[in-house]
Amino acid sequence: MKNILITGGTGYIGSHTCIPLLEKGYRLTIIDSSVNSSPISILKVKEILKDNFKDELITYYPGDIRDKPFLSSVFLKAKELKKPIQGVIHFAGLKAVSESLLKPLDYWHSNVYGSICLIEEMLKYGCRNIVFSSSASIYESSSFIPILESSKINPSTPYGQTKVAIENILYSTFKSSKNSWRIANLRYFNPIGAHESGLIGENPLDIPNNLFPIICKVANGKIDKLKIFGNDWPTYDGTCIRDYIHIMDLADAHCAALDFLLKNEPQIINLNVGTGIGTSVLDLVNKFMKVNDCKVPYKFSERRKGDLPFIVADNQKLTATLGWQPKRNLNQMCKDGWKWQMANPNGFIDIN
Ligand SMILES: NC(=O)c1ccc[n+]([C@@H]2O[C@H](COP(=O)([O-])OP(=O)(O)OC[C@H]3O[C@@H](n4cnc5c(N)ncnc54)[C@H](O)[C@@H]3O)[C@@H](O)[C@H]2O)c1
Repeated sequence: MKNILITGGTGYIGSHTCIPLLEKGYRLTIIDSSVNSSPISILKVKEILKDNFKDELITYYPGDIRDKPFLSSVFLKAKELKKPIQGVIHFAGLKAVSESLLKPLDYWHSNVYGSICLIEEMLKYGCRNIVFSSSASIYESSSFIPILESSKINPSTPYGQTKVAIENILYSTFKSSKNSWRIANLRYFNPIGAHESGLIGENPLDIPNNLFPIICKVANGKIDKLKIFGNDWPTYDGTCIRDYIHIMDLADAHCAALDFLLKNEPQIINLNVGTGIGTSVLDLVNKFMKVNDCKVPYKFSERRKGDLPFIVADNQKLTATLGWQPKRNLNQMCKDGWKWQMANPNGFIDIN
Protein backbone atom coordinates (compact mmCIF):
# COMPACT_ATOMS: atom_id res chain seq x y z
CA MET A 1 0.00 0.00 0.00
CA LYS A 2 1.62 3.26 -1.14
CA ASN A 3 1.88 6.15 1.32
CA ILE A 4 1.13 9.50 -0.34
CA LEU A 5 1.86 12.87 1.29
CA ILE A 6 -0.96 15.36 0.80
CA THR A 7 0.17 18.91 1.54
CA GLY A 8 -2.82 21.20 2.15
CA GLY A 9 -4.91 18.07 2.62
CA THR A 10 -7.57 19.61 4.86
CA GLY A 11 -8.41 22.30 2.29
CA TYR A 12 -11.12 22.32 -0.34
CA ILE A 13 -9.50 20.32 -3.15
CA GLY A 14 -7.25 18.32 -0.81
CA SER A 15 -10.04 16.98 1.39
CA HIS A 16 -12.14 15.96 -1.62
CA THR A 17 -9.15 14.25 -3.24
CA CYS A 18 -8.55 12.17 -0.10
CA ILE A 19 -11.78 10.26 -0.82
CA PRO A 20 -10.95 8.62 -4.17
CA LEU A 21 -7.34 8.12 -3.05
CA LEU A 22 -8.47 6.16 0.03
CA GLU A 23 -11.03 4.28 -2.06
CA LYS A 24 -8.23 3.28 -4.43
CA GLY A 25 -6.20 1.89 -1.55
CA TYR A 26 -3.61 4.58 -0.90
CA ARG A 27 -2.42 5.37 2.62
CA LEU A 28 -2.34 9.13 3.27
CA THR A 29 -0.07 11.40 5.27
CA ILE A 30 -1.65 14.85 5.49
CA ILE A 31 0.11 18.11 6.35
CA ASP A 32 -1.80 21.36 6.75
CA SER A 33 -1.20 24.60 8.63
CA SER A 34 -4.98 25.31 8.73
CA VAL A 35 -4.30 28.84 7.46
CA ASN A 36 -7.39 28.45 5.27
CA SER A 37 -9.09 25.27 6.43
CA SER A 38 -10.10 23.11 9.34
CA PRO A 39 -8.87 19.62 10.25
CA ILE A 40 -12.54 18.75 10.84
CA SER A 41 -12.61 17.97 7.12
CA ILE A 42 -10.55 14.83 7.88
CA LEU A 43 -13.19 13.60 10.34
CA LYS A 44 -15.81 14.20 7.65
CA VAL A 45 -13.79 12.28 5.06
CA LYS A 46 -13.70 9.36 7.51
CA GLU A 47 -17.47 9.68 8.01
CA ILE A 48 -18.06 9.59 4.25
CA LEU A 49 -16.02 6.40 3.87
CA LYS A 50 -17.58 4.82 7.02
CA ASP A 51 -17.01 1.05 7.18
CA ASN A 52 -14.56 1.12 4.30
CA PHE A 53 -12.16 3.19 6.36
CA LYS A 54 -9.49 2.15 8.85
CA ASP A 55 -8.10 4.91 11.11
CA GLU A 56 -4.51 3.97 10.40
CA LEU A 57 -4.95 4.94 6.74
CA ILE A 58 -4.70 8.67 7.48
CA THR A 59 -1.93 10.29 9.51
CA TYR A 60 -2.41 14.01 10.04
CA TYR A 61 0.38 16.41 11.01
CA PRO A 62 -0.62 20.03 11.67
CA GLY A 63 2.20 22.27 10.46
CA ASP A 64 3.62 24.52 7.80
CA ILE A 65 5.57 23.17 4.82
CA ARG A 66 8.04 26.05 5.24
CA ASP A 67 9.05 24.60 8.62
CA LYS A 68 11.85 22.36 7.38
CA PRO A 69 12.57 20.47 10.63
CA PHE A 70 8.83 19.71 10.84
CA LEU A 71 8.65 18.60 7.21
CA SER A 72 11.75 16.47 7.59
CA SER A 73 10.30 14.81 10.69
CA VAL A 74 7.19 13.80 8.71
CA PHE A 75 9.28 12.09 6.00
CA LEU A 76 11.55 10.50 8.63
CA LYS A 77 8.67 9.17 10.73
CA ALA A 78 7.06 7.57 7.66
CA LYS A 79 10.41 5.97 6.77
CA GLU A 80 10.96 4.66 10.32
CA LEU A 81 7.48 3.13 10.32
CA LYS A 82 8.42 1.34 7.07
CA LYS A 83 5.76 3.28 5.23
CA PRO A 84 7.98 5.71 3.33
CA ILE A 85 6.34 8.52 1.42
CA GLN A 86 6.30 7.38 -2.19
CA GLY A 87 4.49 10.28 -3.79
CA VAL A 88 3.26 13.78 -3.01
CA ILE A 89 0.17 15.68 -4.05
CA HIS A 90 1.07 19.28 -3.37
CA PHE A 91 -1.98 21.46 -2.69
CA ALA A 92 -0.59 23.65 0.10
CA GLY A 93 -0.46 27.32 -0.79
CA LEU A 94 -2.30 30.60 -0.73
CA LYS A 95 -4.88 30.94 -3.48
CA ALA A 96 -6.78 34.24 -3.37
CA VAL A 97 -5.87 35.92 -6.65
CA SER A 98 -6.91 39.45 -5.60
CA GLU A 99 -5.19 39.16 -2.21
CA SER A 100 -1.98 38.27 -4.03
CA LEU A 101 -2.01 41.77 -5.57
CA LEU A 102 -2.08 43.29 -2.10
CA LYS A 103 0.26 40.89 -0.32
CA PRO A 104 2.56 39.51 -3.03
CA LEU A 105 5.39 38.59 -0.65
CA ASP A 106 3.09 36.34 1.37
CA TYR A 107 2.29 34.50 -1.85
CA TRP A 108 5.92 34.15 -2.96
CA HIS A 109 6.92 32.99 0.50
CA SER A 110 4.15 30.51 1.08
CA ASN A 111 3.82 29.14 -2.42
CA VAL A 112 7.34 29.29 -3.85
CA TYR A 113 9.54 29.02 -0.76
CA GLY A 114 7.13 26.38 0.62
CA SER A 115 7.49 24.35 -2.57
CA ILE A 116 11.28 24.62 -2.46
CA CYS A 117 11.28 23.27 1.11
CA LEU A 118 9.06 20.40 -0.01
CA ILE A 119 11.17 19.51 -3.06
CA GLU A 120 14.36 19.60 -0.96
CA GLU A 121 12.88 17.14 1.54
CA MET A 122 11.64 14.93 -1.29
CA LEU A 123 15.19 14.86 -2.69
CA LYS A 124 16.61 14.07 0.73
CA TYR A 125 14.24 11.14 1.25
CA GLY A 126 14.38 9.80 -2.31
CA CYS A 127 10.77 10.58 -3.17
CA ARG A 128 10.54 11.77 -6.78
CA ASN A 129 6.86 11.56 -7.65
CA ILE A 130 4.73 14.68 -7.41
CA VAL A 131 1.38 15.99 -8.62
CA PHE A 132 1.33 19.77 -8.32
CA SER A 133 -1.70 22.10 -8.10
CA SER A 134 -1.08 24.59 -10.84
CA SER A 135 -3.66 26.90 -12.31
CA ALA A 136 -5.25 28.24 -15.47
CA SER A 137 -4.31 31.68 -14.17
CA ILE A 138 -0.82 31.15 -15.62
CA TYR A 139 -2.11 31.60 -19.18
CA GLU A 140 -2.48 34.73 -21.23
CA SER A 141 -5.91 34.20 -22.76
CA SER A 142 -6.40 36.76 -25.46
CA SER A 143 -8.69 34.87 -27.79
CA PHE A 144 -11.96 32.97 -27.71
CA ILE A 145 -10.54 29.55 -28.39
CA PRO A 146 -9.94 26.93 -25.68
CA ILE A 147 -6.51 27.07 -24.06
CA LEU A 148 -3.94 24.40 -24.87
CA GLU A 149 -1.09 23.40 -22.55
CA SER A 150 1.20 24.99 -25.15
CA SER A 151 -0.70 28.30 -25.10
CA LYS A 152 1.15 31.42 -24.05
CA ILE A 153 2.12 31.58 -20.38
CA ASN A 154 1.86 35.13 -19.04
CA PRO A 155 0.18 35.39 -15.66
CA SER A 156 -1.29 38.77 -14.77
CA THR A 157 -1.13 38.40 -10.96
CA PRO A 158 1.48 37.47 -8.36
CA TYR A 159 -0.62 34.37 -7.59
CA GLY A 160 -0.29 33.13 -11.19
CA GLN A 161 3.38 34.10 -11.22
CA THR A 162 4.06 31.91 -8.19
CA LYS A 163 2.46 28.95 -10.00
CA VAL A 164 4.70 29.51 -13.04
CA ALA A 165 7.74 29.80 -10.77
CA ILE A 166 6.91 26.49 -9.07
CA GLU A 167 6.40 24.77 -12.44
CA ASN A 168 9.82 26.13 -13.50
CA ILE A 169 11.46 24.92 -10.29
CA LEU A 170 9.97 21.47 -10.86
CA TYR A 171 11.19 21.53 -14.46
CA SER A 172 14.76 22.39 -13.53
CA THR A 173 14.71 19.79 -10.75
CA PHE A 174 13.60 17.21 -13.33
CA LYS A 175 16.34 18.25 -15.75
CA SER A 176 19.09 18.39 -13.12
CA SER A 177 18.47 14.94 -11.67
CA LYS A 178 18.95 12.93 -14.86
CA ASN A 179 15.23 12.91 -15.53
CA SER A 180 14.51 10.64 -12.57
CA TRP A 181 11.38 12.48 -11.43
CA ARG A 182 7.75 11.86 -12.26
CA ILE A 183 5.94 15.21 -12.21
CA ALA A 184 2.42 16.22 -13.24
CA ASN A 185 1.50 19.90 -13.19
CA LEU A 186 -2.29 19.95 -13.13
CA ARG A 187 -3.52 23.30 -14.34
CA TYR A 188 -6.97 23.56 -12.81
CA PHE A 189 -9.69 25.65 -14.35
CA ASN A 190 -12.64 26.42 -12.00
CA PRO A 191 -13.48 23.70 -9.49
CA ILE A 192 -16.88 24.18 -7.84
CA GLY A 193 -19.48 22.13 -5.94
CA ALA A 194 -18.96 19.69 -3.12
CA HIS A 195 -18.98 16.00 -2.31
CA GLU A 196 -22.49 14.65 -2.92
CA SER A 197 -22.89 13.82 0.80
CA GLY A 198 -22.84 17.53 1.69
CA LEU A 199 -20.38 16.65 4.49
CA ILE A 200 -17.39 18.44 2.99
CA GLY A 201 -17.20 21.46 0.73
CA GLU A 202 -15.42 24.76 0.19
CA ASN A 203 -14.80 26.36 3.55
CA PRO A 204 -12.84 29.60 3.09
CA LEU A 205 -11.99 31.10 6.48
CA ASP A 206 -12.06 34.61 5.06
CA ILE A 207 -14.56 36.36 2.78
CA PRO A 208 -14.88 34.08 -0.26
CA ASN A 209 -13.09 35.24 -3.37
CA ASN A 210 -14.38 32.89 -6.03
CA LEU A 211 -17.73 33.23 -7.77
CA PHE A 212 -19.38 29.97 -6.67
CA PRO A 213 -18.97 30.32 -2.89
CA ILE A 214 -20.21 33.91 -3.21
CA ILE A 215 -23.31 32.71 -5.11
CA CYS A 216 -23.95 30.25 -2.25
CA LYS A 217 -23.57 32.98 0.38
CA VAL A 218 -25.95 35.27 -1.53
CA ALA A 219 -28.48 32.46 -1.90
CA ASN A 220 -28.49 31.82 1.85
CA GLY A 221 -28.67 35.54 2.69
CA LYS A 222 -25.19 35.94 4.17
CA ILE A 223 -24.25 38.36 1.39
CA ASP A 224 -26.85 40.83 0.05
CA LYS A 225 -26.14 40.76 -3.65
CA LEU A 226 -23.76 39.16 -6.08
CA LYS A 227 -21.59 41.72 -7.84
CA ILE A 228 -21.01 40.70 -11.46
CA PHE A 229 -17.92 42.43 -12.80
CA GLY A 230 -18.90 43.73 -16.23
CA ASN A 231 -21.82 43.05 -18.55
CA ASP A 232 -20.11 44.50 -21.59
CA TRP A 233 -17.56 41.79 -22.33
CA PRO A 234 -17.52 40.55 -25.93
CA THR A 235 -19.34 37.32 -25.01
CA TYR A 236 -22.87 36.08 -25.85
CA ASP A 237 -24.44 37.67 -22.75
CA GLY A 238 -21.74 40.24 -21.87
CA THR A 239 -20.43 38.36 -18.80
CA CYS A 240 -17.18 36.42 -18.49
CA ILE A 241 -16.99 32.80 -19.56
CA ARG A 242 -15.22 30.17 -17.48
CA ASP A 243 -14.75 26.40 -17.44
CA TYR A 244 -16.35 24.94 -14.31
CA ILE A 245 -15.45 21.44 -13.18
CA HIS A 246 -17.10 19.44 -10.38
CA ILE A 247 -14.76 19.16 -7.41
CA MET A 248 -15.16 15.35 -7.36
CA ASP A 249 -14.13 15.17 -11.01
CA LEU A 250 -11.07 17.23 -10.14
CA ALA A 251 -10.42 14.87 -7.22
CA ASP A 252 -10.69 11.85 -9.56
CA ALA A 253 -8.30 13.56 -11.99
CA HIS A 254 -5.64 13.62 -9.23
CA CYS A 255 -6.03 9.88 -8.69
CA ALA A 256 -5.80 9.25 -12.41
CA ALA A 257 -2.71 11.48 -12.68
CA LEU A 258 -1.00 9.81 -9.74
CA ASP A 259 -1.75 6.32 -11.10
CA PHE A 260 -0.45 7.43 -14.49
CA LEU A 261 2.82 8.76 -13.05
CA LEU A 262 3.46 5.71 -10.89
CA LYS A 263 2.88 3.32 -13.81
CA ASN A 264 4.96 5.17 -16.38
CA GLU A 265 8.54 6.20 -17.06
CA PRO A 266 9.90 9.32 -15.35
CA GLN A 267 8.60 12.43 -17.06
CA ILE A 268 7.23 15.91 -16.50
CA ILE A 269 3.79 16.57 -17.92
CA ASN A 270 1.47 19.59 -17.92
CA LEU A 271 -2.26 18.91 -18.07
CA ASN A 272 -5.22 21.27 -18.24
CA VAL A 273 -7.94 20.03 -15.91
CA GLY A 274 -11.27 21.36 -17.09
CA THR A 275 -14.33 20.12 -18.92
CA GLY A 276 -13.75 22.12 -22.10
CA ILE A 277 -17.23 23.65 -21.67
CA GLY A 278 -17.58 27.41 -21.30
CA THR A 279 -20.29 28.84 -19.04
CA SER A 280 -20.97 32.53 -18.53
CA VAL A 281 -21.40 34.08 -15.09
CA LEU A 282 -25.08 34.73 -15.86
CA ASP A 283 -25.58 31.13 -17.05
CA LEU A 284 -24.12 29.84 -13.81
CA VAL A 285 -26.28 32.12 -11.66
CA ASN A 286 -29.44 31.19 -13.58
CA LYS A 287 -28.64 27.48 -13.47
CA PHE A 288 -27.99 27.69 -9.71
CA MET A 289 -31.35 29.39 -9.10
CA LYS A 290 -33.23 26.90 -11.28
CA VAL A 291 -31.62 23.72 -9.96
CA ASN A 292 -31.92 24.77 -6.32
CA ASP A 293 -35.17 26.71 -6.58
CA CYS A 294 -33.70 29.75 -4.82
CA LYS A 295 -32.97 33.42 -5.47
CA VAL A 296 -29.54 34.93 -6.14
CA PRO A 297 -29.99 38.71 -6.40
CA TYR A 298 -27.22 40.29 -8.45
CA LYS A 299 -26.07 43.63 -9.77
CA PHE A 300 -23.59 44.57 -12.45
CA SER A 301 -20.53 46.61 -11.63
CA GLU A 302 -17.42 47.79 -13.50
CA ARG A 303 -15.11 45.25 -15.08
CA ARG A 304 -12.47 44.08 -12.61
CA LYS A 305 -8.80 44.78 -13.37
CA GLY A 306 -7.00 41.69 -14.65
CA ASP A 307 -10.17 39.76 -15.64
CA LEU A 308 -10.36 38.13 -19.05
CA PRO A 309 -13.54 37.40 -21.01
CA PHE A 310 -12.93 33.75 -21.92
CA ILE A 311 -10.92 31.09 -20.06
CA VAL A 312 -11.83 27.57 -21.14
CA ALA A 313 -9.63 24.47 -21.25
CA ASP A 314 -8.77 22.38 -24.22
CA ASN A 315 -8.76 19.14 -22.21
CA GLN A 316 -7.89 16.69 -24.97
CA LYS A 317 -4.36 16.07 -23.68
CA LEU A 318 -5.79 15.29 -20.23
CA THR A 319 -8.39 12.82 -21.46
CA ALA A 320 -6.04 11.15 -23.96
CA THR A 321 -3.14 10.83 -21.49
CA LEU A 322 -5.09 9.64 -18.47
CA GLY A 323 -7.87 7.78 -20.32
CA TRP A 324 -10.24 9.64 -18.04
CA GLN A 325 -13.15 12.06 -18.55
CA PRO A 326 -14.98 14.44 -16.22
CA LYS A 327 -18.46 12.99 -15.59
CA ARG A 328 -20.53 15.50 -13.66
CA ASN A 329 -22.48 18.36 -15.26
CA LEU A 330 -23.31 21.90 -14.17
CA ASN A 331 -26.61 20.77 -12.59
CA GLN A 332 -24.72 18.40 -10.33
CA MET A 333 -22.15 21.09 -9.44
CA CYS A 334 -24.93 23.52 -8.41
CA LYS A 335 -26.92 20.88 -6.53
CA ASP A 336 -24.00 19.45 -4.55
CA GLY A 337 -22.51 22.87 -3.75
CA TRP A 338 -25.83 24.09 -2.40
CA LYS A 339 -26.36 20.92 -0.34
CA TRP A 340 -23.04 21.54 1.44
CA GLN A 341 -23.88 25.21 1.96
CA MET A 342 -27.37 24.49 3.35
CA ALA A 343 -26.06 21.88 5.77
CA ASN A 344 -23.05 24.00 6.82
CA PRO A 345 -23.91 27.70 6.45
CA ASN A 346 -20.86 28.64 8.53
CA GLY A 347 -18.55 26.01 7.12
CA PHE A 348 -16.96 23.77 9.75
CA ILE A 349 -17.15 26.48 12.41
CA ASP A 350 -20.35 25.15 14.00
CA ILE A 351 -19.17 21.56 14.08
CA ASN A 352 -17.51 20.29 17.24
N1 LIG B 1 -9.78 26.37 -5.85
C1 LIG B 1 -9.42 26.82 -7.03
O1 LIG B 1 -10.21 27.42 -7.76
C2 LIG B 1 -8.01 26.58 -7.53
C3 LIG B 1 -7.73 26.79 -8.89
C4 LIG B 1 -6.43 26.58 -9.35
C5 LIG B 1 -5.43 26.15 -8.48
N2 LIG B 1 -5.74 25.97 -7.17
C6 LIG B 1 -4.65 25.54 -6.26
O2 LIG B 1 -5.01 24.32 -5.66
C7 LIG B 1 -4.46 24.23 -4.34
C8 LIG B 1 -5.57 23.90 -3.37
O3 LIG B 1 -6.57 24.90 -3.47
P1 LIG B 1 -7.89 24.88 -2.59
O4 LIG B 1 -8.95 25.51 -3.39
O5 LIG B 1 -8.10 23.54 -1.99
O6 LIG B 1 -7.46 25.92 -1.47
P2 LIG B 1 -7.53 25.79 0.11
O7 LIG B 1 -7.10 27.08 0.67
O8 LIG B 1 -8.85 25.26 0.53
O9 LIG B 1 -6.43 24.67 0.38
C9 LIG B 1 -5.05 24.96 0.51
C10 LIG B 1 -4.63 24.36 1.83
O10 LIG B 1 -3.26 24.58 2.03
C11 LIG B 1 -3.06 24.98 3.40
N3 LIG B 1 -1.84 25.76 3.41
C12 LIG B 1 -1.62 26.97 2.84
N4 LIG B 1 -0.33 27.33 3.02
C13 LIG B 1 0.27 26.33 3.71
C14 LIG B 1 1.58 26.11 4.18
N5 LIG B 1 2.56 27.01 3.97
N6 LIG B 1 1.85 24.97 4.84
C15 LIG B 1 0.87 24.06 5.06
N7 LIG B 1 -0.39 24.21 4.65
C16 LIG B 1 -0.69 25.33 3.97
C17 LIG B 1 -4.32 25.76 3.76
O11 LIG B 1 -4.58 25.76 5.14
C18 LIG B 1 -5.38 24.97 3.00
O12 LIG B 1 -5.91 23.91 3.77
C19 LIG B 1 -3.80 25.58 -4.07
O13 LIG B 1 -2.43 25.46 -4.30
C20 LIG B 1 -4.43 26.50 -5.10
O14 LIG B 1 -3.58 27.55 -5.48
C21 LIG B 1 -7.00 26.16 -6.68
